[in-house]
Amino acid sequence: MPFKFLMCPPDYYEIAYEINPWMSLRRNVNRSLARTQWDLLYKLLTDQIGVQVELIYPVKGLPDMVFTASAGMVWNHTFIRSNFRHKQRQPEAAFFESWFQENHYDVITLPKVLCFEGESDAFVAGNYLFCGYHFRSDLQAHHLVAELVQKEMLSVALTDERFYHLDTCFCPISDKTALYYGKGFNEHDERNLRKHIPNSILVRIDEALQFICNSIVVGNKVITPAKCPQTTEMLRLLGYQVYPVDLSEFTKAGGNAKCLVLTLERNGTT
Ligand code: ARG
Repeated sequence: MPFKFLMCPPDYYEIAYEINPWMSLRRNVNRSLARTQWDLLYKLLTDQIGVQVELIYPVKGLPDMVFTASAGMVWNHTFIRSNFRHKQRQPEAAFFESWFQENHYDVITLPKVLCFEGESDAFVAGNYLFCGYHFRSDLQAHHLVAELVQKEMLSVALTDERFYHLDTCFCPISDKTALYYGKGFNEHDERNLRKHIPNSILVRIDEALQFICNSIVVGNKVITPAKCPQTTEMLRLLGYQVYPVDLSEFTKAGGNAKCLVLTLERNGTT
């Protein structure tokens, strides 16, 4: 099977602290709705789309562990572990590291002084390693990751705190197409991104705020957040099969579909 993801069930998911502008201690999650929404995403991926999904045990007191995309980055059976920016998420690293060790991956840790939040801020598309730095990951960390995966690095500075991870404002759909929210970057970096992905699709602010750029792409299937009619229509016209999912409870922590999965294998790359 070409696609394999790692997910973490939302047993202990809640808003217990505020580390991005979406999170508010006054707006806690509805646990049972969160569970239902997460289950639907899991079933969609496994039963309908045919992706293999591995699970890691959730840990009490680590509510954001559900967002596995931030755990690290997998490349050729090597796990490059995250160094989380915020102390609230730092204890997650040891649990993710153990999972990858138990599953016989080589584990690489970056120097402690460098923050890196894994596939939330760095992903390979075509010949490039696309990276976003500033809020959560350091540019220096991306230089090291680019060396490890031996790809040319295209790193952009993130400028809008609401789009604090690259996967909240940029989503490669293919080697030549990506969804992006232009104001998530400075003008120079936006131009640079467009130069490298000629068919980029600029999304509207209202759909960017629904986290349309946090879609999961599996070949020609795209799992998008709900309530993004304009972009989903555009994707359909381009020939993609679109699966909108309502993950409103996870938006409260600043995430959506793609944050909830970490890529273990993709199109034959393990
Ligand atoms: N509350 C989490 C955080 O602030 C959300 C992580 C979202 N993940 C992502 N891949 N964008 O770290």
